[in-house]
Amino acid sequence: MARILVTSALPYINGVKHLGNLAGSMLPADVYARYCRAAGHEVLFICATDEHGTPAELAAIEAGQTVAEYCAEQHDIQKHVGAGFSLSFDWFGRSSNEPNRRLTQHFADVLEDNGLIDERSSKQVYSVDDKRFLPDRYVEGTCPHCGFEKARGDQCDSCGTLLDPIQLINPYSSVSGSRNVEIRDTRHLYLLQTRMQDQVRAFVDARARDWPQLTTSIAYKWLDEGLIDRSITRDLSWGVPVMRNGKPRPGFENKVFYVWFDAPIEYIGSTVEWAEATGGNWERWWRTDKGADDVTYVEFMGKDNVAFHTVSFPVTILGSKEPWKLVDKLKAFNWLNWYGGKFSTSQKRGVFMDKALELLPGDYWRWYLTANAPESSDTAFTWEHFKSTVNSDLNDVLGNFVNRITKYAAAKFDSKVPEGGEPGEHERWMANELATRLPALIAHYEAMEFRKAAAETRAIWAAGNEYITKAAPWTAYKTSVDQAAVGIRTGLNLVALFGVIGQPIIPDTATKILESLGVPEGNRSLAASQLLAGDALLDALPRGMTIAVPPQLFTKIEDAHVVDWTQRFGGG
Ligand code: 2FM
Ligand code: ZN
Repeated sequence: MARILVTSALPYINGVKHLGNLAGSMLPADVYARYCRAAGHEVLFICATDEHGTPAELAAIEAGQTVAEYCAEQHDIQKHVGAGFSLSFDWFGRSSNEPNRRLTQHFADVLEDNGLIDERSSKQVYSVDDKRFLPDRYVEGTCPHCGFEKARGDQCDSCGTLLDPIQLINPYSSVSGSRNVEIRDTRHLYLLQTRMQDQVRAFVDARARDWPQLTTSIAYKWLDEGLIDRSITRDLSWGVPVMRNGKPRPGFENKVFYVWFDAPIEYIGSTVEWAEATGGNWERWWRTDKGADDVTYVEFMGKDNVAFHTVSFPVTILGSKEPWKLVDKLKAFNWLNWYGGKFSTSQKRGVFMDKALELLPGDYWRWYLTANAPESSDTAFTWEHFKSTVNSDLNDVLGNFVNRITKYAAAKFDSKVPEGGEPGEHERWMANELATRLPALIAHYEAMEFRKAAAETRAIWAAGNEYITKAAPWTAYKTSVDQAAVGIRTGLNLVALFGVIGQPIIPDTATKILESLGVPEGNRSLAASQLLAGDALLDALPRGMTIAVPPQLFTKIEDAHVVDWTQRFGGG
């Protein structure tokens, strides 16, 4: 049994996330956490809302609320929606909570003690009418790279280039729209990443073998371009206050730490929240001097977050010279697109998590988004593809099988696992299928290849269908009840197995199946050692045991739904 710490990139607080956000971090992190638990490991799965920075302030202004009110409300909404998708976080924290504040200030102190933080003067956009500096998204203007006229101070949404607000052409305040802006000097804290270049490279070199290519290519791109000293404070009021050894830092009374400095620290902060709420021991997961040296730490995120996690956050951790746990495996995702274009929170383009749940239960989305995970390249969501995937995989291949076998057992075998007959060639064929397919499934999960894991899961369901066509117990029943009994017994055992292997991706459906067949919690393990014996698996349910027919697992998506949803949400 291993100990595995799983984190998903922290969703920004500014509104319910879209399916692209779900598919690129929270969902695969959950699938992996569930796989690891089902494989018998001790798992701690941590997430939180990322509540600081200009997106939170701007969204609160738009909502007509104080930032604190806005964040509290949105946190609850995101937590609730996450539960609707059965995201099994052990803790879903808030980066604005006390533990993160304490930890962020602590890291800044030790980094400064270690000579890695400097106070420097820099040029910032100042709005004369708003009487304030305009950091990051508070200023918009024309992108110097592509000419897009609504580029934001921190990044151009059109060409993706990361920007410094003073690079914008024709800048204006996004708070008031005022163009009465000028460049003024302001003082900020700089993290001296240049001094950590060699250490970070050594860290990446040591991990690169275990990281997927998408992760390493981004990490090395940043290292090869050379790290720069970056400012870790902002002229804002909402955020972690800038302190020095527990006292307000002179000249920084109206400044806070930059959101990208405190956000990854919240992985630790959220774990502290979990410990405070549950009596758990957070140090055992994060301090290598307190037992975390045998933890495997796995992070999930979209590709735009990789540099922050392979370079910036490691600078914070390594620069502290304290025994903190560093990431071991980092799974990054490309984009899930909405038809030809991008999902967009600011432009409200695509389907958002709360709306999705109004249409269909979480498992439908979880299946589609895992089977089509944007792993090796960007992928596109379309209603037509969603419909055909759900109807074929979940309804035809899985749902029908479960329904047919359990109903037949209820009708002809008195709702019992049939006792008669002994396995023959068809059962041997099925056992052989399992003997190769189950190890392949486990290998895909171990490699965090989620599309392949979904494809193999489906292939096992399909093999079950093929088996039952060969065994045809309904035909056999007319001449030999015993022969039919073998087919239905094997079929019921397959139903149970389909529930076991469905647990990571479609947990609610899997639970319904396993409950109906009375499979005790202790027999739901996906551990390799238990799954390898194909023929034992096909006779695992106690013969003679009573089973129930599960409630209908899925309903089909009709053409009329696609028409309706396309009208309501766009696409096509
Ligand atoms: O890109 C994002 O959605 C960020 N909120 C991710 C933060 S991840 C972690 F560092 F907090
Ligand atoms: Zn641009």
